[in-house]
Amino acid sequence: LDNGVARTPPLGWNSWNTFGCNINEALIRQMTDAMVSSGMKDAGYQYVVVDDCWMNPNRDSAGNLQGDPTRFPSGMKALGDYIHARGLKFGIYQAPLDKTCAQYFNSYPGATGSQGREAQDARQFAAWGVDYLKYDWCSPSGSIDDQVRAFAKMRDGLAAAGRPIVLSINSNSIHSKTGPQRNWGDVSNMWRTTEDITNTWNSGQTNGYPMGIQNIVDVTVPLAARAKPGAFNDMDMMEVGRGGMTDTEMRSHFALWAILASPMIAGNDLRNMNAATQTILKNANLLGISQDPLALQASQVSFDGTRRVLAKRLANGDVAVALFNQGTATTTISTTAAAIGLSGGSFTLRDAWSNTTSTTSGAISASVPGHGTVVYRVSGATSTPTPTTTPPTPTPTPTT
Ligand code: DGJ
Repeated sequence: LDNGVARTPPLGWNSWNTFGCNINEALIRQMTDAMVSSGMKDAGYQYVVVDDCWMNPNRDSAGNLQGDPTRFPSGMKALGDYIHARGLKFGIYQAPLDKTCAQYFNSYPGATGSQGREAQDARQFAAWGVDYLKYDWCSPSGSIDDQVRAFAKMRDGLAAAGRPIVLSINSNSIHSKTGPQRNWGDVSNMWRTTEDITNTWNSGQTNGYPMGIQNIVDVTVPLAARAKPGAFNDMDMMEVGRGGMTDTEMRSHFALWAILASPMIAGNDLRNMNAATQTILKNANLLGISQDPLALQASQVSFDGTRRVLAKRLANGDVAVALFNQGTATTTISTTAAAIGLSGGSFTLRDAWSNTTSTTSGAISASVPGHGTVVYRVSGATSTPTPTTTPPTPTPTPTT
């Protein structure tokens, strides 16, 4: 969506994966503070997103949405001010039908949707200082055309409200596999490709709830051509630091979200992160690949059912390459500079995890543990070296 925001995949935090419906303003403030004190903000994370269960069941006398008076007694504007005062951006959740998903899972009385009040609610979000809206379908029924119409009403409402707001949609809630069926870049900045992620490597399915890391990758790799500035395949909030996977699997999860240009929205408790989690979430090499200004999603170079090679072209001419082992045994995964679109006779490989470099005349290869991903940033001989002295003035070419 060409609304000036999300020119690269949004980076942030969302309350749902860890806290579900159990949220309140003290918790969101603590997470905002932790975003700063943990160094996540300095690493590039911006959005603090309040998911489902923030609403009052009753609109005010003018029909405006309100925060739940017990959970958010200071109001949503005050929460946005708190987040903004710390240099971060404010995200909130809503649904396009009459109620949010919390009606099904939590019997939450506040699950008040925006149907029929899109323009009014968009103005309300803008007045609260919202910077990011997660807009979640939440119904087993409705055709894709119904979904497009509903999402577009909020898109237009936000545009009319005049504040730049990232529009994040999920067409898949209780509505499996609608995500991959069309390119949602005309109605949103980011769109979920699957049903909800779960804290596990492989849930054994590609259509339904829940989805493992491997399964979301399987669905999203073929959708690479849809990603561009302002429009991204959303692989869902991350499960890094939630304890359901090995460190190798968590590193793969993070690396694949980065190279596949997914929004990277942490879903863990930022107040209690161990060293491994912090090292993963703040990896500057991978965040740099994620935030590259070309904003391309890696495309598939090769896949033999176990060994998957993905490559993402970067703005300075480098190429990021992921060597992803989908099997359980350690194996060697190989590709070449030519296969990932680089020409020349000498290349530098920077390993995203170890931050060490090596050189190659073209072979790119690594021994990769089961469920592991090695990522190299490959610089070709043709990329421009940084000048260390003033370049000599070129001699003008004589004209004849
Ligand atoms: C379904 C979404 O996919 C989740 O991420 C979360 O927003 C819940 N709905 C909230 O009800």
